[in-house]
Amino acid sequence: MQENFRQFLDRLRQTGELVDLRQPVDIRHIATLVDQAKTALFFHKVIGYDVPVVSGIIRSRERAMMGLGADTYREIEDKLAAAIAKPIPPRHVKTSPTREVLMTGDEVDLYKLPIPMSSIYDGGPMITAGVVIARDPELGINSGIYRFIVKEKNLTGIDIVTPNNMRLFAQRALERKEPLPISISIGTHPIEITGSGYRAPLGVDEMAIAGGLRGVPVELAPCATIDLPYIADAEIVLEGEILPTGWTWPEGRFGEFTRLMGGLHWNPLVRIKAVSMRKDAIYYNLHMPWENTWLAAPTRYAAIRQALRTAGVQVKDINVTLGGCAFWHAVISIKKQPGEAKNALLAALSVMDLKHVVVVDDDIDIFDPMDVEWAIATRVQGDKDVMIVSNARAKPLDPSLPQGAGIVPTGAKVGIDATIPDGIPKEHYERITYAYADKAKLEDYAKGKKDEAGKSADGTEVAALAKEILAAIEQAPLYYTDIAEKFSTYDFRTVARAIGHLHATEKLWQDPRGRMCVRGSQFAASLPKK
Ligand SMILES: Cc1cc2nc3c(=O)[nH]c(=O)nc-3n(C[C@H](O)[C@H](O)[C@H](O)COP(=O)(O)O)c2cc1C
Repeated sequence: MQENFRQFLDRLRQTGELVDLRQPVDIRHIATLVDQAKTALFFHKVIGYDVPVVSGIIRSRERAMMGLGADTYREIEDKLAAAIAKPIPPRHVKTSPTREVLMTGDEVDLYKLPIPMSSIYDGGPMITAGVVIARDPELGINSGIYRFIVKEKNLTGIDIVTPNNMRLFAQRALERKEPLPISISIGTHPIEITGSGYRAPLGVDEMAIAGGLRGVPVELAPCATIDLPYIADAEIVLEGEILPTGWTWPEGRFGEFTRLMGGLHWNPLVRIKAVSMRKDAIYYNLHMPWENTWLAAPTRYAAIRQALRTAGVQVKDINVTLGGCAFWHAVISIKKQPGEAKNALLAALSVMDLKHVVVVDDDIDIFDPMDVEWAIATRVQGDKDVMIVSNARAKPLDPSLPQGAGIVPTGAKVGIDATIPDGIPKEHYERITYAYADKAKLEDYAKGKKDEAGKSADGTEVAALAKEILAAIEQAPLYYTDIAEKFSTYDFRTVARAIGHLHATEKLWQDPRGRMCVRGSQFAASLPKK
């Protein structure tokens, strides 16, 4: 896919997924307007600014699919898995339209950019869609998205409390007592947002994953003041450096993917040394939390499927649920071999910051919360089927963990094996199914369908029928409903009387599955011994 950011906006516009607001709008109203909108919004006239704002572009499942060129949501995951398996390294170009305007030194003024605030408790105007690229002298290139709160005209924070690769790069630079140069590309296509949002292992270039998603290399161009590339298609690029302050400056609060306000964070500062932008640049304000969620979820799917593949588990389906903020919960259905549910739990729980995983058999619909709860209710013994691992890597944004300066909390991982326990007979899990469901259709009866009345009999005729039934169950045990159907030339009451006759004459018994058989025969169940 060669499409750039602007072409994507046009595609949204053409399909009615983006609405243009051409009247003057106060920047303070942008976030709530986006929150109320079903479409993306393009604010052409933001009062006091020369640059327009677009927001909410991937704030729905459909628009996330459009952004990744996928026909189904699942296809995003498949594309991501293919891109991870076959990354395409970026292509370096000399320059790009982003360099049409360049401001350096004293000219740098972040207050000229329409950077909105969003929620009531935000710590200030916040850059939410910056794809950050950095280089570590030994570990190579890394990219990711991290939020920046504007503090001065050329100073921001950077939210890297989570133990990710960018935090590691900043930590290593701090130990060298050096600033860490970073480029921040704002207004990039959802493909680059997805690539950089994927937490690749150290040494893997996320821009090459974005290239794999595109099927062609992502183009990168050199910054003006630092030795780093930026995304050539970006609308606006900030060039800066994370200062060696350590995690000593209060920043936030931030509205998080958890749908909660995070607490105050302690972060390093970032000095912005240059701003470059297109002459007619558009500022992209990524709206939390759903623009994050819809693109983050597929990265979890891909990583979980990979871990389960390595563990050799036969997976039917995975649901990274929205109730779990698309980060913390997964329900997985498997075709189980003995012991495999526990292996599946161990494998899935190793993925990222996943907290709670439920594994069910493949007869459970994992997209139906009631079915999953039913599996937990009927298949789990808490002492055998719940595994808890303490002190695993956790997301500091988890509000149930200790928070505060310098704290990198660890947390618990919980796995629930809600598969049918090994060694329990399958018939313990025979679901209620109704006799005649294939024939007796309510819609036909609503239209007036009538049933034929069977023969009714008494006395000797019932005894004769009982003999016939006895002959049938001598051959093989039959369920009561099978007998009722086999002798359906008689009405039900007559069949029931005949079976009653066999009971009264002490000929009737049942086999271990509950089928009718002859008393004392090879099929007959015997009372379990105490
Ligand atoms: C819209 C968006 C905003 C994000 N904001 C932050 C953030 O403020 N801080 C953070 O640590 N991670 C944030 N992330 C997650 C990281 O970008 C993501 O985990 C990335 O893979 C980290 O890469 P790294 O391990 O290479 O540093 C955000 C992701 C998205 C999609």
